[in-house]
Amino acid sequence: MGTVTRNIGLSLGADICWPLCFEHLMRRLDLHIPHEGDTIDFHVERVSIEPFDLQQPVKYDVVVDRLTHWYHTTREWLKKGILMNDLYVFNNPWSIQSNEKHTSYCAMMELGMPIPKTWMLPPKRYEPTPDLKPTLDQYARLFDLGKVGDQVGWPLFLKPFDGGGWRAVTRVKSPKEAWKAYDESEKYIMHAQASVEGYDLFVRCIGFGPQTRCVKYDASAPLHDRYTVATDFMPQADMDHLRKVTLTINAFFGWEFNSCEALRREGTWHPIDFANPCPDSQVTSLHFHFPWLVKAYLRWSIFCAATKRKMRRTLDWEPFYKIAAKKWDYPKKLDAYAAIAEARFESDRFEQFCKDHLGHLDEVAYDFFASQDAKNAVRLKTKALVPAHEVEKFTELFWSRIQDWRAAGCP
Ligand SMILES: Nc1ncnc2c1ncn2[C@@H]1O[C@H](COP(=O)(O)OP(=O)(O)OP(=O)(O)O)[C@@H](O)[C@H]1O
Ligand SMILES: [Mg+2]
Repeated sequence: MGTVTRNIGLSLGADICWPLCFEHLMRRLDLHIPHEGDTIDFHVERVSIEPFDLQQPVKYDVVVDRLTHWYHTTREWLKKGILMNDLYVFNNPWSIQSNEKHTSYCAMMELGMPIPKTWMLPPKRYEPTPDLKPTLDQYARLFDLGKVGDQVGWPLFLKPFDGGGWRAVTRVKSPKEAWKAYDESEKYIMHAQASVEGYDLFVRCIGFGPQTRCVKYDASAPLHDRYTVATDFMPQADMDHLRKVTLTINAFFGWEFNSCEALRREGTWHPIDFANPCPDSQVTSLHFHFPWLVKAYLRWSIFCAATKRKMRRTLDWEPFYKIAAKKWDYPKKLDAYAAIAEARFESDRFEQFCKDHLGHLDEVAYDFFASQDAKNAVRLKTKALVPAHEVEKFTELFWSRIQDWRAAGCP
């Protein structure tokens, strides 16, 4: 019986806005949570990068990681922490093997999701290595991209198998256009993927533990307008469906935060890009939705740290494959996958925890997102992104959308 401090580490790279808001809100929440006879408070700090002894202890209970996917020292430190120090990290660093689109397409096709038909192509050019020539001379087959396109169906998207940030993504309507895009794709390993033509809705569903939020997405808009501020834009049944899809994907791959892009055509949702396990968390993209995301970061970190929830160290795909093998239709399978996911994310226990201990978060966030501290966080991020003469204009734009969120009752 006593006061126990849980340490939450933020493992960060260039992130600016959400960590500042996270830290401010944590202070304002001033948590003292009763748990199993103790009172738990929290200490948040940013994880530093420095030499470490493999056998030294790790001071954190939970690390929120935004670095692992590209910064290898941190990845290895996190792995050590998980293997040796009972550290809880999201996302699981071993899930990185699945961070490219390709793995996620394969697995979710196998689970029965209506992923558009996709082929993989060897790259146009290679990094020269001593064995490259004998390998390609013997084994690389000339291929006709037009014939691949006929199999996939036109129009199609040529895009890197591990893409991100719309790099080298091209919609092509003919073999000629396909060859041109392929010739320009250089060393990227490309997918040729059937285009979901004539979709009537494009949604990004952000998943954070058991929390999900569907945002209507406008791919044709400039970056700061792609996450639209629309609310109530689709029926609850679609929301429920995309929640199931997103939680299934996240639980399968060991991603506790991720976002899933899906297109709806004739009532069917086609997931097209759902390996975003370090999802955009910037106010400059999310604006109206940013406070929700910051609250999601807080709730899940606090829940995991307070309850000492055990991290699932291995991914364990077998229960999903068992369901996939059944002769059920897709909706029934999806219900069963989602039930595994809800159990893995402890949705009910989490909801109860939030009710019991974080009831004041909404009010604290409502006040905070009107404060100078919050506005400074928005300005600092905006300053890092836009030219100097546009900082004020865009800061005001993003800030006004946050105020719209407050005025709308913090949806
Ligand atoms: N199969 C498809 N059918 C229709 N549109 C597609 C398809 N694949 C990609 N697109 C379009 O191209 C855009 C970029 O593709 P994709 O999301 O796969 O690439 P990305 O580089 O991961 O993008 P981001 O990093 O923004 O998520 C999508 O937002 C969508 O507008
Ligand atoms: Mg995308």
